[in-house]
Amino acid sequence: MKRDRTAMRGDVACEEAPDVPRHVAIIMDGNGRWAAKRGLPRLEGHRRGVEALRRTVRAAIELDIRFLTIYSFSSENWRRPAQEIGDLFGLLRIFVRRDLADLHARSVRVLFIGSREGLPPDIAGLLAEAENLTRDNKGLTLVVAFNYGARQEILAAARAVAEAALRRRIEPGTIDEKAFEAFLETADIPDPDLLIRTSGEQRLSNFLLWQAAYAELVFMPVLWPDFDRAALEGALLEFKRRDRRFGGLAAPAPSLKERA
Ligand code: IPE
Ligand code: IPE
Ligand code: MG
Repeated sequence: MKRDRTAMRGDVACEEAPDVPRHVAIIMDGNGRWAAKRGLPRLEGHRRGVEALRRTVRAAIELDIRFLTIYSFSSENWRRPAQEIGDLFGLLRIFVRRDLADLHARSVRVLFIGSREGLPPDIAGLLAEAENLTRDNKGLTLVVAFNYGARQEILAAARAVAEAALRRRIEPGTIDEKAFEAFLETADIPDPDLLIRTSGEQRLSNFLLWQAAYAELVFMPVLWPDFDRAALEGALLEFKRRDRRFGGLAAPAPSLKERA
């Protein structure tokens, strides 16, 4: 069973929604603008972005968030100059090498989603090492979307389903949402409840298009390098105010519920 969806279905829409989202996904945007505002090279913005990521992981653990997915390099980011791509890969290397032991000590399970094709071999090795070391950890699951694009992910799943059907391992008529999700890279990871994008941009940029179908979207003006625990708490507060309906009816106000 992929996940417990009791809190999502219409027939239990009256159930109290949890205050803290189980899964928070973040589009960490605005590093370049942060640097430009200070007359610094974009790399400096990305460096400070890694520091913001460290703060955010610690805050997520303290706030008892169970899954944190971060968008760190998109399939479309290959359109950037080679120098910047090299800098971003360099920062990923540094992050994994320097932070892995600490993440492991904090019982964080690290997973990577995205294509490993086209990545320098040492990076692919580092990603596998991080996943293997932290495989059995029971704390926060940190999902790093690296070289990730949601359309590519969905296409790969569609290809795998077609392949399985050809080999008669799956019956096309039985492919429902649950069966299809098992082919996505996020199989076994619950859908994000809250999706945050920093820097004021209001788009998904090919991030978790399937999984975010019912995520609460929070767009914040803060540039990613300035993001901290207080900013995360601000987003959680906004999440708490939202009325999640999943296509059903609004949960009745507490006073009405008591009378029912
Ligand atoms: C986010 O910051 C980091 C990545 C996309 C890798 P940007 O580099 O997109 O920063 P802006 O959007 O140019 O400010
Ligand atoms: C999305 O940010 C990708 C990441 C944060 C890794 P971009 O800065 O690449 O997105 P666009 O180009 O503004 O849509
Ligand atoms: Mg950007």
